[in-house]
Amino acid sequence: MNLALKSPAPRSGILDIAAYVPGKEHAPGVAKVHKLSSNETPLGASPRAIEAFQKAAFNLERYPDGQANALKEAIAAVHGLNPANILCGNGSDELLGLLCHTYLGPGDEGIVTEHGFLVYRIQITASGGTPVTVKEREERVDVDAILAAVTERTKIVFIANPANPTGTYVPVEEVRRLHAGLPTGVLLVLDAAYAEYVRRNDYEAGLELVSSNRNVVMTRTFSKIYGLAGLRIGWMYAPRDVVEALDRVRGPFNLNAPAIAAGAAAIGDQAFVAAAADHNNTWLAKVGHALTDIGLRVTPSVTNFVLIHFPEEAGMSASDADAYLTSRGFILRAVGAYGFPNALRMTIGSEEANEGVVAALTEFMGRK
Ligand SMILES: Cc1ncc(COP(=O)(O)O)c(C=O)c1O
Repeated sequence: MNLALKSPAPRSGILDIAAYVPGKEHAPGVAKVHKLSSNETPLGASPRAIEAFQKAAFNLERYPDGQANALKEAIAAVHGLNPANILCGNGSDELLGLLCHTYLGPGDEGIVTEHGFLVYRIQITASGGTPVTVKEREERVDVDAILAAVTERTKIVFIANPANPTGTYVPVEEVRRLHAGLPTGVLLVLDAAYAEYVRRNDYEAGLELVSSNRNVVMTRTFSKIYGLAGLRIGWMYAPRDVVEALDRVRGPFNLNAPAIAAGAAAIGDQAFVAAAADHNNTWLAKVGHALTDIGLRVTPSVTNFVLIHFPEEAGMSASDADAYLTSRGFILRAVGAYGFPNALRMTIGSEEANEGVVAALTEFMGRK
């Protein structure tokens, strides 16, 4: 073989990964577009965050604080945590990847659920590990199915709570039961990207479980209710061992300075968060009822999105509905890659967007 002609090859498994496809943002030929495909907030970011971002523009020659201390302290103050147990990431996506790269290698298994967030599978595979997918029950994470899948090769278990794209959640007692059934050497990752939206007494994002155990971490994001998706800010609450391990692996300046400043200001504005949660709560219920009334099944959601199922038996397909909505400027998310070929995920948007989708789907359903 002529070695001079050999091209570099990615590690085994890398080319088997189906790259993540973000939500669509364009509706060709339509003047006004409502992007409801990435679970972004319709309310933007807190004015305090925007001001902090703008101020940061005057010091761009400086490296950011590699520990993102101002952000950690602001998060710690709001949630009553020790900043030493917080690690920030370039979006929570980065943290999910770092967890896999730090705790998984060839021969190791990571458990994910049937309709779980695709980044888990991608990062497990990218780390050389093997994703093991377990069934859900009625579009909910099934704790027993996860526990039944644990082997001595299992190193990590991912659940999104609440889950994307179903919008369902696992009550705290069930999360505790899941944790209690896992060997202590298995890391349980509770991805709570949508925690701020949940209004249920039996829900907890995971703070208490992390505080009292050495094998649980919780990830959070500023991309959803805080309206800072474009800045890429995530954080993790974790035992010190985990923080110290990931600190060795991450890029030394993984958060940029404007993001640190804007994130710290955003989390200080909890009145803004409460107003965003109120808007969502009102429209989540209204949209759910309106869609059910026109004959669509909607998975009960505690988040800022709903999963809408189209009745195949009545000849309704999600792809036809998608085309119909897109032609009217409403962009929803196709979720075939999540195991829902005949459903669309709709982010709760502004009043105009929500009413527009309901009106368009009413027409769509009436056409058949
Ligand atoms: C369940 C879940 N986890 C994590 C993320 C990633 O968020 P971030 O923008 O913080 O990377 C998302 C974003 O869609 C999500 O739905």
